[in-house]
Amino acid sequence: MFKPSYPALAILAILASSRGVDAACTSGTIATLAAGASCTYDNFVAALSADCAASIADLFLNEATGLPLDEAARRAEVEALCEYDAPTQFVEIQGSYQDDRRYFAGGSDLVDGSSSWNVLSGKIKRFEANLGTKTVIAFPEYAARIDYNSQNNLGANGYPANMNLEKSCSLNTIMCCFTDASISSFAANADATTDVCRHDLRDSPQSNHIANGWSVFPGAETPTHCVGFTWNDGEEELLGNMMYEVSLRQTATKGYRQGVPGAPMCGCVEHMPVVESAKCRTAVKDPAGIVYSFQYNEDSGYVSASNTVAITYQDCANADLAAQYKANHADDVETAALIDEHLVGAGNCDADLEEYLNDEQFLLEGQHPRRYAQIDHSVWSDLVVGEGIRFLPPNPDPIVADTAFRALIEAGCKNADGTPRYCMVRRFCDSCPHDSHIDIYYKRKTTLPPMGTNTTNGEVYFLDLFMNQWTSYKNILNTDFELYSNYQDALNGVNKWMACNYDSSGVGFPRDCGPRDTSVGEWNSYTNHNWFERANHHGFYVEKPSA
Ligand SMILES: *[C@@H]1O[C@H](CO)[C@@H](O)[C@H](O)[C@H]1NC(C)=O
Repeated sequence: MFKPSYPALAILAILASSRGVDAACTSGTIATLAAGASCTYDNFVAALSADCAASIADLFLNEATGLPLDEAARRAEVEALCEYDAPTQFVEIQGSYQDDRRYFAGGSDLVDGSSSWNVLSGKIKRFEANLGTKTVIAFPEYAARIDYNSQNNLGANGYPANMNLEKSCSLNTIMCCFTDASISSFAANADATTDVCRHDLRDSPQSNHIANGWSVFPGAETPTHCVGFTWNDGEEELLGNMMYEVSLRQTATKGYRQGVPGAPMCGCVEHMPVVESAKCRTAVKDPAGIVYSFQYNEDSGYVSASNTVAITYQDCANADLAAQYKANHADDVETAALIDEHLVGAGNCDADLEEYLNDEQFLLEGQHPRRYAQIDHSVWSDLVVGEGIRFLPPNPDPIVADTAFRALIEAGCKNADGTPRYCMVRRFCDSCPHDSHIDIYYKRKTTLPPMGTNTTNGEVYFLDLFMNQWTSYKNILNTDFELYSNYQDALNGVNKWMACNYDSSGVGFPRDCGPRDTSVGEWNSYTNHNWFERANHHGFYVEKPSA
């Protein structure tokens, strides 16, 4: 991984004081390494002009004493120059940390389209013309971030918010999303737009300044173009160039500005909004290699380093950012799949949003496949009695209630062959634990016992058999009646239930009866409420005779 440069930035401060007072060297380039040669002390010394080589001791002086540094100290100075001064610093493009910070967050005059656009973009355009394709750019790091990051558990580094390669960029993938292309247009640059699904505000509090919350973007929204890059460990040399390409270069050369509301404009994908797809870009350098050179300033006494190399910015080998990421992790299915949480693929925002909102308990409107069904009243009576969401108490006079119930059952239903039968009783239970008990059909086979409430005289309050007192008296499964889990089976007489029990005080239909085995907690009762009664939302209906 990329090395944090906390020590480096401290060293830069020391470098600033390495003056050579009496150098025989004159101002200007004092050493230019061969193309492809590593930036090392030995190569530096070998490339020094004869004058400078002769007076090398004067090039690096101790700030405090003014005395020449020994060779080991000179070596350390040059190594630090190679590592931290030779690459062009990202901050040089716009000129200040604050400009970069606000740009990445999606703010700043440049991004908000103020009247200073030409002035502000002009600065980047000059960088583009002079160095944009000619130098290795270091990944953004800022001295101003070092204390902040170390104090906020963000590591000993100077990485900007949402782009902390050390702490929160484990997918090695960075992306910028732009929503304003008014200066040109996405289409004019052949840049595809993407649907934006959502942004969890927790993922970028350093740029939105909100601890918690979310933005969701259902349906269509402002055209948005996302573009990013992804890399393998060990391929960090041109990360700063890729960062420049997907961010400031897009803005300066195409006029792209403004991010997704609530989200940073640029960041590691972990900090960015979930979108369907992003363009993939990369940077490659001239195979001849980087040319490092060292400059000496006689007046200030400073030695500095720089690099030149032709840089080409191009599309990735694979179609888009997710495809390139997956290609980089083709040998590891689990890691490859991680990108799907951030780049969900064309047409998949709706499904992503539904899953996300359900996780957040903002349940989407919808219909359970079986519960809460609408009853078809061309086939079934109005509600007879019910509880909960199907609440309807019986007529307080049992004789009136049972007379009406029996009339429905005896209304003249027929078998397929035309023979008469009782109309079926149906209980629809929205709250029953098992799918088998959501919708039950009671098909009466034997003659109903006489109506009444004098049980010693063999009378039965038939409606109460269903409501409160499921008894075995003239009510035996597969003798007096059959039970089914759906109407079609009941009509055809197939898949009838096999298990039943009865006669528990205050326990109504169908006690523990079940398709194969008895099943606890599916019964209803209008008089007895206890933990086992789970059918608190149910209603009874009676089949209507077909015309
Ligand atoms: C119930 O029926 C029994 C047997 O016919 C009879 O003796 C009894 O009086 C009846 N009870 C009532 C309350 O009518």
